[in-house]
Amino acid sequence: MFDDLKRQVNTQIKNDALSVDERLQSICDLLQNTVPSYDWVGFYFKNGDKDELKLGPYTGEPTDHTIIPFGKGICGQVAVSNKNFVVPDVSAQDNYIACSITVKAEIVVPLFVNGQNIGQIDIDSNTPDPFTEEDERFLEFVNAQVAAML
Ligand code: SME
Repeated sequence: MFDDLKRQVNTQIKNDALSVDERLQSICDLLQNTVPSYDWVGFYFKNGDKDELKLGPYTGEPTDHTIIPFGKGICGQVAVSNKNFVVPDVSAQDNYIACSITVKAEIVVPLFVNGQNIGQIDIDSNTPDPFTEEDERFLEFVNAQVAAML
């Protein structure tokens, strides 16, 4: 599944008839529609020179958490750790921001441009413990492609 998806992501990235945000949106749509365990897919980016994340394109239910301070929640922790964060069970996390009561698991993978952590892809799942290293490698691929487009 991921090999085919990688090709499709690549096609979206190269579609320069669309704006960057439109391409990010189409990647969110593609991932959310294709991978059964991906229920909410979105990008957060560092908000200017502030130590906070701002929600970018996403697919799934609207969230109140359009701004997340660095250090807060899973997303805010990844903004400072620069490391993937895989959460098999969100109820076991103290520093977690709930977007929807249906969410059971989350994965956040940082997005680097020239070695700088400038944002992240965030995926929520209504399925418990669905993410493997394959997801991590795939999402690292997606972010590398996005970084090359930015
Ligand atoms: N759960 C995230 C907040 C963002 S929502 O999942 C869209 C967190 O703890 O940072």
